[in-house]
Amino acid sequence: MQVWKDYQAENKDRFLDELLALLRIPSVSADSRHNGDTQQCAEAVKLRLQEAGAEKVEVCQTAGHPIVYGEKIIDPSLPTVLVYGHYDVQPADPLELWHSGPFEPVIKDGNIYARGSADDKGQFYMHVKAFETMNKTNTIPCNIKFMIEGEEEVGSANLGIFLKENKERLKADVVLISDTSMISLENPSIDTGLRGLAYMEVEVTGPNRDLHSGVYGGAVANPATVLAKMIASLHDDNNHITIPGFYDKVQELSAEERTALNAAPFDEEEYKKDLGIADVWGEKGYSTIERTGIRPTLEVNGIWGGYTGEGSKTVLPSKAFAKISMRLVPNQDWHEISDLFTKHFEAIAPKSVKVKVTKHHGGSPYVTPTDSVAFKAAHKAINATFGKDPIPVRGGGSIPIVALFEKELGLKTVLMGFGLDSDNLHSPNEKYGLDNYYKGIETIPYFHKFFAEMAKNNG
Ligand code: BES
Ligand code: MN
Ligand code: MN
Repeated sequence: MQVWKDYQAENKDRFLDELLALLRIPSVSADSRHNGDTQQCAEAVKLRLQEAGAEKVEVCQTAGHPIVYGEKIIDPSLPTVLVYGHYDVQPADPLELWHSGPFEPVIKDGNIYARGSADDKGQFYMHVKAFETMNKTNTIPCNIKFMIEGEEEVGSANLGIFLKENKERLKADVVLISDTSMISLENPSIDTGLRGLAYMEVEVTGPNRDLHSGVYGGAVANPATVLAKMIASLHDDNNHITIPGFYDKVQELSAEERTALNAAPFDEEEYKKDLGIADVWGEKGYSTIERTGIRPTLEVNGIWGGYTGEGSKTVLPSKAFAKISMRLVPNQDWHEISDLFTKHFEAIAPKSVKVKVTKHHGGSPYVTPTDSVAFKAAHKAINATFGKDPIPVRGGGSIPIVALFEKELGLKTVLMGFGLDSDNLHSPNEKYGLDNYYKGIETIPYFHKFFAEMAKNNG
């Protein structure tokens, strides 16, 4: 649509400046020292939504970080799209590995470098600018609701409560999210799934206090050594996970589905080069695409204990710890998997130590139906602006709230992400391509247009 193109061309620089201003707010949800910043960020999002033309815009306080809500109802008889995103970001450390300040956005080689640029400020803000485009050109084709939260990176616990308490206000026909990746701008793709998550923490205790490693070492079990062995045993020689029952409910894909999945463009040599690894690793019998999309995994996210400061200290630590998370696929249940993990971890502990396992957050996997009107609208929208059909792929990451949209609100979700896996999400030097940002803003109005048209014809 020419009016959209013209409006976006005229406002291109401002669209970027506004995003840069959001990126300067260090809205780290995991760190309570940033509570003032998450609040300030929520207020900034509210203001931007209002300026774009949203109504009933509100910063909704929760027991944690606030949720920003806004809407534009043009006609209650038209379909409604609920746009979800998150303004919170992951912690920026290790700071010394950043080439520029994580909250001082820099444009270099066509990319915006800043924490949150791709995950998810740059991506949810495309929706605000797409909405502005439609609103200011009087071309909004359906009702649009916005729900931008501040706790995605810490498990969205309060958003779950918000869904339960706001069912009427959140009534919609579909949820639209840009918080995933595509293969590349040349090979646009749409994620048709998200993995679930079960996040655990373990504590292994040996002696009742730290000991002199010369006086006691060799005679008393070292909890760090024991923990390392226990962790190592969680994968067998084929890199299968050894927790009994772990794979029982895993949905196996048909040979045709696997072939289709593996047809997506993927260059393993390029992948290895990008990551600086000599070889890939993973569950025997599955490709890299499958290992990161349709198979469950177990990762150690952190491990510590004993002396890790400067120099050396000869100590036999009393305790060792690890944070371990598992990515889940349909139809694994994260509570069940958490319990299986706990039982197994307790069972494999030698008598010489005590173990304590605690469950952090988690979430269910999700698969988007590809025969829905909303998915077809996304497909058509990508085709309209990229000139190519998007390739359906399974995303490896998790957005736990997506399964709850279905459970609490009865809503399916379309994941129309514009980032790249190589955007350094959660890593130093996170980036988001300017082209990706503008392409997203260009594409999103077409989603609304096609969804409104197709939903009308269908119902
Ligand atoms: N946007 C990501 C999820 C994502 C990234 C999905 C790339 C697909 C492709 C999201 O912000 C995220 O990081 N989620 C967390 C889970 C959360 C409970 C901390 C994750 O996947 O680790
Ligand atoms: Mn995200
Ligand atoms: Mn994230």
